[in-house]
Amino acid sequence: MKPVRKAVFPVAGLGTRFLPATKAIPKEMLTVVDRPLIQYAVDEAREAGIEQMIFVTGRGKGALEDHFDISYELEATMRGRGKSLEPLEPTRFPPGAIVSVRQQEPLGLGHAVWCARDIVGDEPFAVLLPDEVMVGQPNCLRQLVDVYERIGGNVVATLEVPPEETHRYGVVDPGKRDGNLTEIRGLVEKPAQGTAPSNLMLPGRYILQPEVMQVLDRKEKGAGGEIQLTDAMAQLIGTQPFHGVTFDGARHDCGEKVGFVIANLALSLQREDMAPAIRAYLANL
Ligand code: G1P
Repeated sequence: MKPVRKAVFPVAGLGTRFLPATKAIPKEMLTVVDRPLIQYAVDEAREAGIEQMIFVTGRGKGALEDHFDISYELEATMRGRGKSLEPLEPTRFPPGAIVSVRQQEPLGLGHAVWCARDIVGDEPFAVLLPDEVMVGQPNCLRQLVDVYERIGGNVVATLEVPPEETHRYGVVDPGKRDGNLTEIRGLVEKPAQGTAPSNLMLPGRYILQPEVMQVLDRKEKGAGGEIQLTDAMAQLIGTQPFHGVTFDGARHDCGEKVGFVIANLALSLQREDMAPAIRAYLANL
């Protein structure tokens, strides 16, 4: 079984839900406490053993590459002032460990992943959607890697949501269940209200076999007229093992404002230096 060494981060989206905040900065640079969203996803991948991060970017997304580059002027100034460079540690990667490729047109998540096909090559790879901040111990991708190392094939994170929310997501048609593991019989992207095969959704963490790129090559359009990753994955079912792992942890949907504000509260309450002041403020409120 080949190890999972590469991860794809689709980061070409325009972030229109957060305008005007995202007019001149990528939405993945919005901060939760003191880290941009992209940092949470990259940290999660690195902790899960990923060696190469592949950003699928677009025009105006240069800040994402700058964030993981050396900031010469900043470091020289900080050193000169005797300040610790420790806060920059998570942004350090050797050359080649972070690469990017452009998605030239917004044709969907499946198309974004397909744009990374030559860098991914013939090996299994992870996909992480940075809008979703997943907090768990071990982290979400690590939970998937642990299962992948046992059973191989395709392994995706799943989570239960209230039935009235399933139309917003990719949804699983579940087969046999064994603890947190669910055999996947089918997948539907954004099922119409009342038609979802279950309330088990895909929160944006995947380990996929490279054959999914061949399916994406066909550029078939699905929900919303977009090339959907969910549809391409669905076509692998039956030809390769496909399992869902119910994530043990908390999910924050930072692709929308309420989830984003809640993520800031939840994560700041986990910080010893901030929690007492924030708790006191909230209690007062
Ligand atoms: C994407 C995926 C969907 C998944 C969701 C998680 O949808 O297509 O399957 O459930 O992310 O956030 P989007 O949020 O891009 O509409």
